[in-house]
Amino acid sequence: MKRKTFLRAGLATLSIAAMAAMSACSGGDSGGGEAGGSGSETIALGFSQVGAESGWRAANTKDIQDTLTEENGFKLSFSDAQQKQENQIQALRSYIAQGVDVLAFSPVVETGWDAVLQEAKSANIPVILTDRAVDTTDDSLFASFIGSDFVAEGQRAGDWVVENLGKDLKVVELQGTTGSAPAIDRKEGFGKAIEGTDIDIIDSQTGDFTRAGGKQVMEGFLNSHDDIDLVFAHNDDMGLGAIEAIEAAGKKPGKDIKIVTIDAVKDGMQALVDGKINYIVECNPLLGEDLAEIAKKVVAGEAVEKRIVVEDAAFTQEEAAKVLADRTY
Ligand code: AHR
Repeated sequence: MKRKTFLRAGLATLSIAAMAAMSACSGGDSGGGEAGGSGSETIALGFSQVGAESGWRAANTKDIQDTLTEENGFKLSFSDAQQKQENQIQALRSYIAQGVDVLAFSPVVETGWDAVLQEAKSANIPVILTDRAVDTTDDSLFASFIGSDFVAEGQRAGDWVVENLGKDLKVVELQGTTGSAPAIDRKEGFGKAIEGTDIDIIDSQTGDFTRAGGKQVMEGFLNSHDDIDLVFAHNDDMGLGAIEAIEAAGKKPGKDIKIVTIDAVKDGMQALVDGKINYIVECNPLLGEDLAEIAKKVVAGEAVEKRIVVEDAAFTQEEAAKVLADRTY
């Protein structure tokens, strides 16, 4: 079992979970059925993924698909929203119409979910958020949220910069998808860490969490600024794109221009070991096991934790060299 912290018991979720338990796993119109050999019922779970924008996302998708298997008691319906909220809403509505037992999704942006979540609630289908949060005033619209603390990730990156690179730097920021929880929160956390220093974010734009986006935005930064000390990239992929742009401009990433990123996927860790990135804060993508556990509980009508914070590590170049060979994603 992965390390995790249960912040508070989600008693508010008990009633919706109990309702779900009554309608789910009955072998009736819930979409569930007998799970091979165990005597228990299969849980029909509809999952709407953000997209395939990054190495992190690929690892997250694989983990969910590898964990929510028939052998583990699930009938998983999976869809890729290609980073578009309208696609996610359409997928969720389709799963509601099919009468799945549980919905799970990683919301591409924070706002605009209340209507579809209300539809799920009216259909007595509990919703589990993975990876990213939604911004809603009605906490009863979802049963549980499993994922990292993105503000803490941004703050950890900023703290390392202040302690190791100094307090007087010119920084360019490659933001994640506009309006997404990790972009909003990592920016906030980094901002907190550099408060009261002379570290100045001289430019900040979205690269949409993609390598191509990071490269393109970094090319623009290099054209506009000749005094960049540091790139703070909200994920490894954009940092890897920035490396390409910096090298094409005849400069040395990690030396002439320092780079700090978030994720710690294998390609990012390799660049860290190669000296092209200076520090990476991990964002753990392995959420499948927690999702399976919470889904089983809500379907059984048990109370679940409203917020499960997945713990993250962080790596210097020396630390990355020790773990790179065993990195599975
Ligand atoms: O929501 C998690 C973020 O989404 C990851 O840091 C990033 O790589 C992904 O696209």
